[in-house]
Amino acid sequence: MSETPTWDYAPAPESSAIVNLKEEYGHFIGGESVPSADGATMETINPANEQVLTRFAKGGQEDVDRAVASARKAYDEVWSKISAADRGKYLYRIARLLQERSREFAILESMDGGKPIRESRDIDIPLAAHHFFYHAGWADKLPYAFPNQTVNPLGVAGQIIPWNFPLLMAAWKLAPALACGNTVVLKPAETTPLTALLLAELIQDAGLPPGVVNVVTGAGETGAALSSHAGVDKIAFTGSTEVGKLIQRTAKTRNLTLELGGKAANIVFEDAPLDQAVEGIINGIYFNQGHVCCAGSRLLVQESVADLLVEKLDHRIKSLRVGDPLDKNTDVGAINSREQLDRICELVESGKAEGSELHQSTEDLPEKGWFFAPSYFTGVAPSHRIAREEIFGPVLSIMTFRTPDEAVEKANNTMYGLSAGIWTDKGSRIFKLLGEMNAGVVWANTFNKFDPSSPFGGYKESGYGREGGKQGLAAYLEVK
Ligand code: NAI
Ligand code: MG
Repeated sequence: MSETPTWDYAPAPESSAIVNLKEEYGHFIGGESVPSADGATMETINPANEQVLTRFAKGGQEDVDRAVASARKAYDEVWSKISAADRGKYLYRIARLLQERSREFAILESMDGGKPIRESRDIDIPLAAHHFFYHAGWADKLPYAFPNQTVNPLGVAGQIIPWNFPLLMAAWKLAPALACGNTVVLKPAETTPLTALLLAELIQDAGLPPGVVNVVTGAGETGAALSSHAGVDKIAFTGSTEVGKLIQRTAKTRNLTLELGGKAANIVFEDAPLDQAVEGIINGIYFNQGHVCCAGSRLLVQESVADLLVEKLDHRIKSLRVGDPLDKNTDVGAINSREQLDRICELVESGKAEGSELHQSTEDLPEKGWFFAPSYFTGVAPSHRIAREEIFGPVLSIMTFRTPDEAVEKANNTMYGLSAGIWTDKGSRIFKLLGEMNAGVVWANTFNKFDPSSPFGGYKESGYGREGGKQGLAAYLEVK
């Protein structure tokens, strides 16, 4: 029997009884649930047990046309006419309803996407509500955000979101768009449509006028029909760099925000609080299965403390609990889809083939479902694919450095520039490095911390435009 560093414990699964799944879900257009024009549907699967959860509509051009027309009508006839304070009231109502129903949303999020209930319960759902609260406050104060300028909504916003934070990304997109007076057509990811559809129901309960928010479900083709639609005034996308580039070429509007991939470096200096750094690294790449665009997938550690840090990290990784996302003790849940698991495996194989050394947690993985053992590579060269490409899985690439300049050079040596982390005891070093790092967000002595008031976005191939804060409002307004 292999040595197991974790204690035995009783499973503590959250009951899914609160979730009422329908047999089939339609699009949400003009305040109603409607099937696709051609009747097409797809299924969504629980990645932790590979069981089909339910079916949902697969949108085509006609459905997207309908949704865009519905958003246009709502914009012209209602949303652009009501007062800004009233827009704020609707947003507050959505935020409060989301808090009231948070447990149901958290469980559904974990069932549909595979993330541990601890993450969906403590991070995704509260932050989503927080985004609606924050933007509710802005709705009637926009002139104060942009003094001496005039601000106008853009009109109809098309929004396409990924599967790693299904509800939170919906909130990031919807809240500022609505606060600024736009109407919306939202396209959730094909593996995780359910919390966006539940949010649509909640929005209806909040009494939002029909057509202000429309949700069209489907896969890439549905997304492409929306992102290239001539009837939208704005496109906001979060997802892969590849699709982001495609959207950039095919969008008819020049109002584009793209939040794409990342290959963040966590830089640990010899004077850093190492135990705290270990927790930050764990939070940065293993929680949420590494399905995070700003995941700290590269660790740059100063040579003098490299052995000690790796030893501590190794110990910690071996205590991570991988398994049932609905179990409150689970640290690492299921990989979102078979395709994503294949991508992770392929990249890990390339790491081994290129000469890096793979280390993995020894915990048994569940037999059913898509799981990947928390892993890290040592002996990684900056040219290896695992050091350059987004892995989007619980896999860390460890490299060392000697001087601060070398650390910055290595951290910036990437086509991405979304985020980074610095761990050091010296405030002056943090401030110096902040100016030198090409990353939209730099965390110091912490990692993966979010707040609606803080703008988020990238440099280089991580995209452009900012979400959150005053900068995020500007992305949904014409500022003159
Ligand atoms: P993706 O970029 O294909 O999917 C994101 C969203 O875009 C989904 O709603 C999808 O239906 C939609 N979409 C797909 N093709 C489209 C098109 N041609 N036009 C318009 N919309 C389209 O990402 P995918 O394939 O799920 O994941 C691939 C890789 O992308 C991952 O391994 C990861 O590295 C990266 N990724 C990055 C994310 C981020 O937050 N930056 C989120 C998800 C994936
Ligand atoms: Mg699913």
